[in-house]
Parts: sequence; C-alpha cells; structure tokens
Amino acid sequence: MSTPKVWTSISVMALALASQTAAAQAPNAQDVAKADARAAATVKAMLPQEKTILTHGIMPMDLGIGTTKIPADAVPGAGYVAGIDRLGVPALKETDASLGVSYVMGLRHDGATALPSGVLQAATWNPDVLYRGGAMIGGEARAKGFNVLLAGGVNLMRDPRNGRTFEYLSEDPLLSGMLVGAAIRGIQSNHIISTIKHFALNGQETGRKYVDIKISEAAAKESDLLAFKIGIEQGQPLSVMCAYNRVNGANACANDWLLNKILKKDWGWKGFVMSDWGAVPGVEAAINGLDQQSGEQLDKGVFFTDQLAARAKADPKWAARVDDMNRRVLTAIYAAGIDKFPAQKGGKIDFAANAKVAEDAAKQGIVLLKNEGGLLPLMKTAKSIAVIGGFADGGVLSGGGSSQVQGEGGPAVTIPIMGDGVWAGLIGQNYHRSSPLKAIKAQAPTAKVTFRDGRYITDAVEKAKQAQVAVIFATQYTTEGLDVPDLHLPNGQDELIAAVAAANPNTVVVLENGGPVAMPWLGKVKAVVEAWYPGARGGEAIASVLFGETNPGGRLPITFPASIEQLPRPKLDGSDWVEPNFAGDPTSGSDQLHADYDIEGSDVGYRWFARQKQKALFPFGYGLSYTTFQTGGLTLKGLTATFTVKNTGARDGDEVAQLYLATRNGEVKQRLVGFARVSLKAGESKPVTLTIDPRLLADWKDGQWVTPKGAYGFALGRDAEHLGEMVSITLPAKSWKE
Ligand code: BGC
Repeated sequence: MSTPKVWTSISVMALALASQTAAAQAPNAQDVAKADARAAATVKAMLPQEKTILTHGIMPMDLGIGTTKIPADAVPGAGYVAGIDRLGVPALKETDASLGVSYVMGLRHDGATALPSGVLQAATWNPDVLYRGGAMIGGEARAKGFNVLLAGGVNLMRDPRNGRTFEYLSEDPLLSGMLVGAAIRGIQSNHIISTIKHFALNGQETGRKYVDIKISEAAAKESDLLAFKIGIEQGQPLSVMCAYNRVNGANACANDWLLNKILKKDWGWKGFVMSDWGAVPGVEAAINGLDQQSGEQLDKGVFFTDQLAARAKADPKWAARVDDMNRRVLTAIYAAGIDKFPAQKGGKIDFAANAKVAEDAAKQGIVLLKNEGGLLPLMKTAKSIAVIGGFADGGVLSGGGSSQVQGEGGPAVTIPIMGDGVWAGLIGQNYHRSSPLKAIKAQAPTAKVTFRDGRYITDAVEKAKQAQVAVIFATQYTTEGLDVPDLHLPNGQDELIAAVAAANPNTVVVLENGGPVAMPWLGKVKAVVEAWYPGARGGEAIASVLFGETNPGGRLPITFPASIEQLPRPKLDGSDWVEPNFAGDPTSGSDQLHADYDIEGSDVGYRWFARQKQKALFPFGYGLSYTTFQTGGLTLKGLTATFTVKNTGARDGDEVAQLYLATRNGEVKQRLVGFARVSLKAGESKPVTLTIDPRLLADWKDGQWVTPKGAYGFALGRDAEHLGEMVSITLPAKSWKE
C-alpha cells in the first residue's frame, strides 16, 4: 500500500491505517512492477490468435442488440472479457461501481448494499470513510463473482447541472484525488481490479458522446488531470476508463494526448485503459492508447478483434501495440491477484455489517446548512411532528443510471421517468428501503407523528399547522444520461416548502438531491439539512442527525451558487437544442457540440467564485455543527503547516480543518492545499500537521510544474469564503517534471 503523501493529519491518519490492516493489502507500485514483468513473459507465450481475446469484451446481458452470445460463466453485470484457459488467465467479470454492486435493473435478482452518493461521501472529507466503503463494495463484488469494479468516478464538478454530480466527488482536485484514491485502495484490497474514470473532462451528460471539450494543457493539468493523478498515486488503480466526450477535437477513448502522452508516458502508469460502453470510434483508438474495447455491442463495430489482428499482422508497430495492450491487461490481473484468488459466486455477505458502513458514511456526510435559533437537534420528547413529502414513508432517493444500487427486495418505490427503450429501467427514480418517517418515530416514540405525501399543499399545510415542528423532505432526482435544466426543485416543491414554512415557524427542510439546488424559500425556514442521496440506511442517518445522536460534521464539496448566472457557462452547452437521450448519441451525423472549459480554466468551483469575487448561496467547505470550533495558530515551516483545532462548545463533534492558498505574490489565487477531519470531545483541542503538495501552488508551463519565486499567502478557512488570518511565506523559484 502506498502511503498517502499529501493529506497527513497524524491523528486522523492513524485511524485510516488501523482500518486498512483489517483487509488484504491493496497492490502498491512494487506489486505492479512485479506483475508487469510476469505479464511480459505471458505475452511472449501467447499464440497470435490469443492476442485479441483480452482486448475486447461484451455486456453480458440480452440488450436486444445484435446476436451476442452470453458465455455460461458470465455474471449479469456491465462487462465480460473472456479469459485464456491455456495460460491460466481468468475471465474479467465487471460490475458497476462506486456506490455499491449495481442493480442492473434487477437482472441478477439479488441485492447489494448501497453506499450514499459520491458527493455525500466526499462531504465527509474523510478518506477513511471512502476506504471502508470501497473495501465493503469490493467484498460484495467478490461474493457475487465479480473481479473488476467500474468505480472511481473522479471527474471534477464543473457544472452543478451535470446529471452525474451525485456519482462524482467534488470540484477540487486535492479533495477528489485523495478520496478517490482511498476508495480504490479499499476496493483493490479484495483482489479486485478497480477503474478510475472517466478519463477525462467528462463534465456534462448533454450530448455526452460527442461534446468536444476545449481546454488548454495548463488548465487541464492544474485541475481535472491533477485529480486523476493524485487518485492514481494514492490508489494505484489497475485500470483507467476513458470517457465518452471528445477533448480538443479527439474522442477521449482515442486520444493520443490524454492516453499515450499524459497517462502512459508522462505518468508512467502501467495498467490498462478500458473504454466506456459505446465510446470507441474505430480500431485506430488502439494506436491512440486504448487497450480494451468494452461493452462492444454498443459500438458501431467490434474493432478490437479481427481488425486489430489484421493490423498487427501487417505492421510491426501495430504488433508491438497489441503486445503492449495484452501486457497491460495481464499486469492488472496479476497485480490484483485475480488469478490466484478467484472471486466466486455465492460468497457470504454480512449485510448487517455492511449496512453499518453505509450508515456511518451517511452520518458523516450529511451537511447542516441552516439552523436558526438552534431548532435542531429536535427533542426526543417533542409532542408533535408533521412529516411531509419525499416518499419519506417509503425510503430515501437514489441517483439513476449504471451506478444504481438496490438492496435485497429491490426498491421501496420506483417511478419511471422514461417510457420506452432499453435504458428505461436504468433511469427510474428508485428509493431505498430506509424510511425516514419510521426512523423519526423511533427517535421520538412519544410524539404524534403525521405524514402527508406533499402532492397537495392543502393537507400538508393543515398538518404543519397542527404540529410543533414540520419536517419536509424535498427531492431532486438526477441520473446518468440527463442533466438538469436548472437548479430548482422539481414538481412544485418550492411552493410546498414556502406554504408549509408560512404555516409553521419551526420548519426543517431535508434535501435529498444529486447536487446543488436553489433555495428560494431559505429565508422562511429555520433549518436545512443536506442529506444528498444517503444510501441504504439513509432514513436512520437523517433521523440521527435531526435528533442530535449524530452531530453533523459534513462540509460541502461543491459550491452552491446563488444563481446560474454566476457559473462560467450560465447556459449549459447544448441544453437548448440537444434532445435528452441517455446514450448521448447525436441525432444526426452532423451534430456538433462544443464546451469551452478555458473560460474558467483550472479555476473550477470556489476558485472561480474567488476570481470573480462572487458570493455563493453556500460556499465550498461550508457546514454547521451542533457545537462550535476554533481553528488557529497557523505556522508554516516550508511546506509543512501546523495549527490547532479546538471544540469550544458543549457537545462532541467533528471539524473539517481546511487550509487554503489565498494569494500568490499579492494576486488572488485560491486553492485548497490541505484538509483534515478531526473528532473532538467537548472542550478538547488537537494539533494538526499538513504537508502541502507543491503542485497545488504551481502553474503548469511548458511541460513542467513551475512555482514562481515570491510570497505565498495561506489561511485556514471555515469554508472557501471565510478565511482566517493570512500567513505568508517566501518560496524560491522552482520547476520540475511530473
Ligand atoms: C457509464 C460508465 C459505466 C458503464 C458500464 C456507462 O454508461 O458511463 O460509468 O461504468 O456504462 O455500465
């Protein structure tokens, strides 16, 4: 296991390491090097006809497309790549993904443990939570016979309207990279290959298969690519999944610059690049760095079999490339040990223990956004509570698409949003069987608790008037394949909240949403709890926060804008003319869609807000607690920062210390350079030490990292908008290669 280099709060690290020793060790760089040597020997032993077996795979389910035969040993899931028995090479059995073993529309007739959404997990700011989640999912995947997890979604959140915001982690490269690395270490501690995805700059779902992202090398290196790089260093993922979109004119899955130059040459990464499903434009993708064609029924052709073999036969350059493709897939197989420790279907799963992992993640990632007059936590002795909306009597919402997970018995509630087509089942609105209403009743056993579903404002208002407290569950469903047109809650929920708030002065809004939403009613309600998509035990976690058993310690990993006018692209490219379409295919061959990421460049999210001097609705890093903290005493010795965090209130709680670069040579240049989640008893204080990664201070210029000589101003931040006193240090000019 590689030791995390950047994020090094001593006390918190000890916790992370303790939990990591419980599972097998994830492969480290040395394991990969050894595996690579063994892979080279296997490639030498391969017959020519064996060299196009590992280079392509199918989606092992009947999609009604083509005539693909499903092999007997395949497990229904996202992918299957045949093995080579003669050489002892096992088949790859692939499942989605980051939030648990995916449900694939119930095809396997089984259940799995659903972690909360990626953005909730990131709101914990706690790599240990991600590690434990990854280890848990990896264990369940093994028990179901899978040996590859299509996990590790780390695309930076460049637009809050992106339908996959819930799957990703944050808008910041350090936070995203550290967290995804921890998740991948957890997954790969199970003799399972994990991907990191979608490489790269997959920032919107609208026209996802053809949108062309324009970005300069410097901007990409200082933002999205840095998140991938840190994730790869921390997690050693054995596979990278390339993205659907184009980058600077070339498909990400056939992009020489991204795959050959940056990933393989500059970064020296030894694993294999698999395509996203239906993302391969043709056989040329191989020479541009793609190693494996996945879900081949979804492409226009099966390119990585006969066509590849023909090229290899005719051209030594292609023959060498095909050998390299095989070597890379084999390196991953050997490094993970999936040949020596085969995953077997029918393994035992401790669902109760795994549910606790999901519940703990939810408790750590729920963010308290508003708490006027200390309305929360609610008293267990409350007399009457009106619970309204959000199917709170049934369960908690989850996000849609390939990452959708469901427990045994399937969803509590399913509402289709699409009538027809193969993908209809993939994007229904599904609620996990974890009822907040039941959990609230369990917390306040003597209270009179009523429930109205919120379809009608009249009876919701009536019940709100009769109760001491009104708790409204507001939902925003989001899914892979579709972006949201704006940030408002759908289905008239804003009106419902305003009406209930007018009827009851003690109104609490609990949000179950994919990403940032607008809150036109914010001034009218006393409390807002951001519960995201809280996973298999979300109802219990929400109730635990509402009643103070859990002191909320989550912090926003994404800026909530005050309006979409504040975004670098107030109009999401294509949103006015692209017909919503899960696959993201163009409707005609001539459709062109462009997005200019050079507008904000590497100043994504809070960095953009700082540059534009804009005030967010809620800034990056924001979150309240039932106690109070004081963080101070910042000193810097070179790039080592030390400071103290103190719990100054009367309750135990967790603070997330955030260290920012604020200025460089007098210019505003805001970047998160370190963070640590610290648990503190009431009155307790703890010292924290963070080591700053110099890449976070640098510019990418002429093929290298460059930090100019001069004054670097750092400050601790309660969040990205509220920075403490600045401490300045002088650094010499420096430049270095990747
Ligand atoms: C998604 C990937 C996923 C793959 C396989 C694609 O639609 O973009 O994230 O891993 O499907 O299910």
